[in-house]
Amino acid sequence: MKKQIKSINIFDKSKYHKMIESPEMLDYGVYLQCDKLLGCQKPISQLATADEMQFQIVHQVEELWMKLICFTLVDILDYMYQQEHHRVITLFSRVHLLQRMMTNQLDVLETMSPKEYQKIRLQLGNGSGQESPGFRTLLKLPSDMWACFKTIYLDEGKISVEQIYDSEYVHDHRYAVAEAMIEFDEQLQLFRWRHLLLIHRSIGLGAKSLKGRPVELLQSGAAKRFFPELWDIRNTMTDNWGGEYGKFRPSISGKS
Ligand code: HEM
Repeated sequence: MKKQIKSINIFDKSKYHKMIESPEMLDYGVYLQCDKLLGCQKPISQLATADEMQFQIVHQVEELWMKLICFTLVDILDYMYQQEHHRVITLFSRVHLLQRMMTNQLDVLETMSPKEYQKIRLQLGNGSGQESPGFRTLLKLPSDMWACFKTIYLDEGKISVEQIYDSEYVHDHRYAVAEAMIEFDEQLQLFRWRHLLLIHRSIGLGAKSLKGRPVELLQSGAAKRFFPELWDIRNTMTDNWGGEYGKFRPSISGKS
């Protein structure tokens, strides 16, 4: 049982809500267009549940990170053509950081109870994550990324993925860029698997209304590799080593 607290008006909630929604704009706020930014969420008075604020903000922030990721990837493609390899690698590390942030931020949504989410779900109309503008653009970029990598690093350099990784391995700029591409691919898969677990936790993956298309679609998306040549070389190398050293190696403990 909650004990009733007699004193009232310890703080003025509506005053704070007003400050949160329409704070004073000084130069910093004007430059960042904070008035527009803070106006992009539903008014507090119209929220279906207090959790709707975090739901909207996490999704909006994710869209902003995807905007920056896509913009940076386009720059990377440009720098690939200019053969500015150090820029390519530095910008890829920015993209990887952004991708990790995107994945980590999904944690925030797991602080919301499944019950609260049901109230928010009703607000979405037919909206679905598949319609995310940032994600749709992001999915278009890997085919151009591979075409650029192939033209600039493989065809122009007259070298194959096998040579870069194995028979002529020198850990040069081509190897570094290939590994940056693999990291991008892996981070995209990690986001998709993490997102699947988020769905598992908030609406369940076995729900009857979800059986079939959405779950299959999400699982096949999460298993997708955008640069299969860069993944397959690892299998080839391991099989070659197996052929060279044999599949079974002598035990070093003498027990296995
Ligand atoms: C409680 C939170 C969330 C739930 C319950 C949820 C649920 C779902 C479901 C069921 C789908 C499958 C398509 C459909 O039937 O709508 C989906 C797709 C998707 N969602 Fe979410 N989602 C959540 C949060 C997020 C967040 C924060 C993002 C941020 C970007 C996001 C991005 C996506 C994307 C990009 C897809 C398409 C997936 C793909 O192609 O692999 N979702 N989501």
